[in-house]
Amino acid sequence: MLHSSVFWKNHFEHNLTKQRVDWSLRPAISAHEKQNILYSLKAWQLGETSDGSHLMAAANKYAGRINDPVYPEAVKLFITEEQKHGNNLGRYIDLLGETRLKKDWGDTLFRKIRYLNTSMELWTITVIIVESAAQVFYTALHNATACPLLRQICTDILIDEAHHLKFQNERMYILFQQKKFYNKAISIGLYAVLFFATIHAIWFAHGKALKAGGVAKPEFMKQMYYRFFKSMQFLHAPQPQEATALQYPEARVLF
Ligand SMILES: [Fe+2]
Ligand SMILES: [Fe+2]
Repeated sequence: MLHSSVFWKNHFEHNLTKQRVDWSLRPAISAHEKQNILYSLKAWQLGETSDGSHLMAAANKYAGRINDPVYPEAVKLFITEEQKHGNNLGRYIDLLGETRLKKDWGDTLFRKIRYLNTSMELWTITVIIVESAAQVFYTALHNATACPLLRQICTDILIDEAHHLKFQNERMYILFQQKKFYNKAISIGLYAVLFFATIHAIWFAHGKALKAGGVAKPEFMKQMYYRFFKSMQFLHAPQPQEATALQYPEARVLF
């Protein structure tokens, strides 16, 4: 089932009104827990605070091509939700009396890729991979601490991320349908390479926090492969009704 851009715009507008974190709580994190997760907490906080201008540029260009003026509005709200995650994590870091990261190698690398990226397809597959990793990471972060405030922040993010993944998987489906058979096969291969490289970079950077949350490397890889295969499987599902009805015009794709 594919949802329209209007549906997603309404979803994000409604979801942004939900306040699931009780800020009257104060951090209650042990020194040991903090030592395991602090670097990753700061790095993900930085990663969630992008202004989204490059994604917006790609979304505007793409929406003009497919004549869907509401799509950029939905993407804008999606970015706002990511920034909310960054704000909440930042507020928690401040309450711990720690300083927020201004620079991180993973974030710098990802920002460089974003800067060069004007393709909606490349944006979407990258976001799908990162959102999938976010689901595993924030679950591990939640389980790596007994701090009720941090757990609430993670739960709130996880509720949002589940919808982000659906939003992006649906867009990927629409983009993927424009390809011919061999193009589809080559694209899946390239997505897999991107996926493989990204999950290893994430494990390298955040393995310590993931392990503290009970996710050892084989488990991380297993969970990531499961999510990736689910996303790829969705691309090959029988064509959902709304996609046929809307008859999306030919969209320029990367590969
Ligand atoms: Fe997020
Ligand atoms: Fe997200």
